[in-house]
Amino acid sequence: MQNPDMTKEYSYRDSHNYSTKGAEYETYYQTQRWERFLWSREQEIIKQILEKYYAGRDIHLLDFACGTGRITSFLEEHVKTSTSVDVSASMLAIAREKLKRTEIIEADITVDNVFKGRKFNLITAFRFFVNAEPSLRVAAMQALSKLLSDDGYFVFNNHQSYGSPWIKLLYMRHQKKNSQSIFNVMTIDEMNELVEDVGMKILKIYPAGFSHPPKIAVPQVLTSAVEKICCKFKSLTLFSESPIAVCGWHNRAIK
Ligand SMILES: C[S@@+](CC[C@H](N)C(=O)[O-])C[C@H]1O[C@@H](n2cnc3c(N)ncnc32)[C@H](O)[C@@H]1O
Repeated sequence: MQNPDMTKEYSYRDSHNYSTKGAEYETYYQTQRWERFLWSREQEIIKQILEKYYAGRDIHLLDFACGTGRITSFLEEHVKTSTSVDVSASMLAIAREKLKRTEIIEADITVDNVFKGRKFNLITAFRFFVNAEPSLRVAAMQALSKLLSDDGYFVFNNHQSYGSPWIKLLYMRHQKKNSQSIFNVMTIDEMNELVEDVGMKILKIYPAGFSHPPKIAVPQVLTSAVEKICCKFKSLTLFSESPIAVCGWHNRAIK
């Protein structure tokens, strides 16, 4: 679902293209309780994905829209080769300070064919698709699908899932205010459509983020306890705020 305020000229490509954005993004992640909690959940989930889908296999990673290298830096030690790509020089400046053995590429893969026939068996894309406008979502998916090996997995998240009651509330409030700012949300069905359009399917969804406290300093142990309980019930997956999907080619067996 896209925010109707989005103008034709707007492209998410340009959203992080100013000199202080990288530093701002880093500070945001270090200071925001909820983001820090979600990041800890994401790390747990990524570990589970590596154990389930990559046990005993070499991993060749492409972290798309890597930004400041949050996801790449966590994965770097677990993979054989590590490559990350982003359009923002300011985000990549921070990534360069963090990453030790990653090939870092500044490019827009929807426009430039920088990988020229290379394939990766793990492609990650975090905090990108829900933010991107529809044409960019499609272009990025098409470009990424050409880079995924036959036995590879594409892992992406939707950090503003419309199934989450909290996100629904924020979205409705935003619509009511008719604010000029952009607040996109995405449903699980839209996540499905995105990958199905390029011949992939979602193999598994890992829920993350069940109890977003509105500006209240809830102790992390409590947030974690609620998260643990909710994760036990598969039927609650749809209600999580930031689900992570593992996708593979259509003929892949569901694991
Ligand atoms: C919110 S950041 C996410 C960074 C990182 N994946 C994370 O989860 O921390 C989104 C990133 O997408 C990048 N981006 C936007 N359009 C892009 C494109 N067409 N190609 C590559 N990166 C793009 C932005 O520059 C920005 O760094």
